[in-house]
Parts: sequence; structure tokens; C-alpha cells
Amino acid sequence: MSKKRVLSGIQPTHDSFHLGNYLGALKQWVDMQENHDAFYCVVDLHALTVETDPKLLKKRTLLSAAQLIAIGLDPNKCTLFVQSHVPAHNQLAWVFECITGFGEASRMTQFKDKSQKSGADRINVGLFTYPILQAADILLYQPDFVPVGEDQRQHVELTRDIAQRFNSKYKEIFNIPKPEIIKSLAKINDLQDPTAKMSKSASSMAGVIELLDTPEATLKKFKSSVTDNGKEIKFDEKLKPGISNLLTIHSALSGKSITDLESEFSGKGYGDFKAAVAEVVIAKLEPISKRTNELMDDPAELSRVLSNGAQKASEVASTTLKAAYSAIGLA
Ligand code: TRP
Repeated sequence: MSKKRVLSGIQPTHDSFHLGNYLGALKQWVDMQENHDAFYCVVDLHALTVETDPKLLKKRTLLSAAQLIAIGLDPNKCTLFVQSHVPAHNQLAWVFECITGFGEASRMTQFKDKSQKSGADRINVGLFTYPILQAADILLYQPDFVPVGEDQRQHVELTRDIAQRFNSKYKEIFNIPKPEIIKSLAKINDLQDPTAKMSKSASSMAGVIELLDTPEATLKKFKSSVTDNGKEIKFDEKLKPGISNLLTIHSALSGKSITDLESEFSGKGYGDFKAAVAEVVIAKLEPISKRTNELMDDPAELSRVLSNGAQKASEVASTTLKAAYSAIGLA
């Protein structure tokens, strides 16, 4: 039986991914490459919707790709590429823009949230057409599944609607992909505000564990993490959100069960416990930053890997694009 195909993407909007990204999606990407035909894309064109210094965007795109390899994506097992290296994405996006209703695009909740927050005069048209470019990212590769977080469900639904519309109006070109909402391996919260999800949009990075943090920085973040009254190390999300979050992090990375951890640390103080969690995290992250740095120090090799990825992606993408162009009447 042939392998099911998956496609997913991540924006290069920060220097480093964080522990929430890793346990929430990226670790699953790594697992999926084993028994799927997996396409993973660093979506730098999407990142243009937020104004970024050009040098920084370029660096973040390379850093994102390097980190994905460092956490275990193997370019021999999956197709890892940068979106802007495959021009078919923009080419198909235009076709889709012309078959997507203005009202339909206006209903995207992510767009509504972002435009409400910043005000209509301060956002760009790219933010509006963002989900249509995402539809092109996806449909070019004819995937069976699109593994994404819950926040992307509506964009994948739009993608399916666009594909169905194209197929019924013009020609059956597109496979209709299913969203596969990734189950997070652990619900990780901010170390400074343990009732809020760990997120890059936090007001301070003090509670966000970044994959590329130095061991010293990681230790410091754990040592100054917010804990709770009392001194028992016990999982209780309501009464002890801080300690519960630390237990969750330890368990997700060490593989030990929460119950085992509770007995291992019974009678120990918060300070010792925090140091132990930091140690587990550092042991996981250190090789990842080391590998990322090695890749960043060898730009020729990284660029060779990405250009291979782009070539593999282009072969699939250009076949789909050609069929779509022809079906819609482009001579
Ligand atoms: N919009 C997605 C996000 O912010 C990123 C993305 C772009 C994507 N293109 C994609 C995800 C294609 C899956 C498939 O998370």
C-alpha cells in the first residue's frame, strides 16, 4: 500500500521555536515522516504579512529549517523546503483568489481577530489573502491529510471548499484533503503565567522555553518559574498550576508518568524540583541547539539540502499547477 501523503507548514516568525511548538506539533512531524510521504514547508511568504527586517526574515527562515532538521526531520525521509523557493505557490494562489468569494475570505476568524486588533488601516491585503495562499500550499501537493493545530481548522476547511469548487466548475484536479488536528503530546503553559498556554506572543519571554536558549538561560527560566503556595509536589491544575505545568514538562520529555514523578519528588522542595525539570529540558535541548548551530555554520550544506527539497517539491507542484492552469483556460 502506498503511503498517505501529508503536508504542513510553519512560519519563520521567530529566531527560535519553543517547547510548546515542539510538543504541540513538531515532534509529531518527525514521527510522521516514518510512515507518511511527508512534505514540510517553511512558509516565508506568509511571514511577509508581518513586516520584518529583510535580513532577519532570511535568517529566521534558515534558522527554522535548521531547527527542523535538528529536531529530527530527515531530508532523506521527508521533503523539507522553503515556500518561496517554489513559485507555483504564488501562481496557484492567484487562481484561487479568483474563485474565492470576498465574503468567504472575510469570514476567516484569524483574519477578523488580527484586523480587529491592529485596525483595518494598519494591516495589509496579504493578511486577507493569507488563507488562499495556504490553500495553494496544500492543494499543490495533493495531500491526504493536513496535520495542523486546532487554530488552523477553518483554513483547511476553506482549502477543501476551494478544491471542491475548482473540481466541480472546471475539472477534477484536486484531492480533497482532511484536516488532521494534531494532538499535543502535552499541554504546556507559560512558566510565568502557568494558566496561559506557552506562546510566542507572550508579553515576556521569561516564561517561554525556546529550543535555542542556552542551558544557563533555560536554568534561569525554570528557577524563576512561578510556583504555588504550599510545598507539595503534586499535580493539581486548579490549585497548583505552576507545579502541574512543571510536572507536565518533565513527564513529556523524560517519559516518566506524573504519578511516578510525584513519588520521586515527594518530600523534596520546589527548588530541587525546578532544578531537576531544568536538567531534563536542557538534556533534550542542548543537542538540538548544537545541531542547529552546526547547520547555520555551514550555509553551503544547508542551502544544498533546501535546494534539493525545493526541487522535489517543485516536481509535484508544477504538475498540479500545469493541470490547474489548463483546466481554467490559461492558454
Ligand atoms: N497558517 C499556518 C499557521 O500559522 C501556517 C501554514 C501556511 C500552513 N501554509 C500551510 C499550515 C499549509 C499547514 C499547511 O500555523
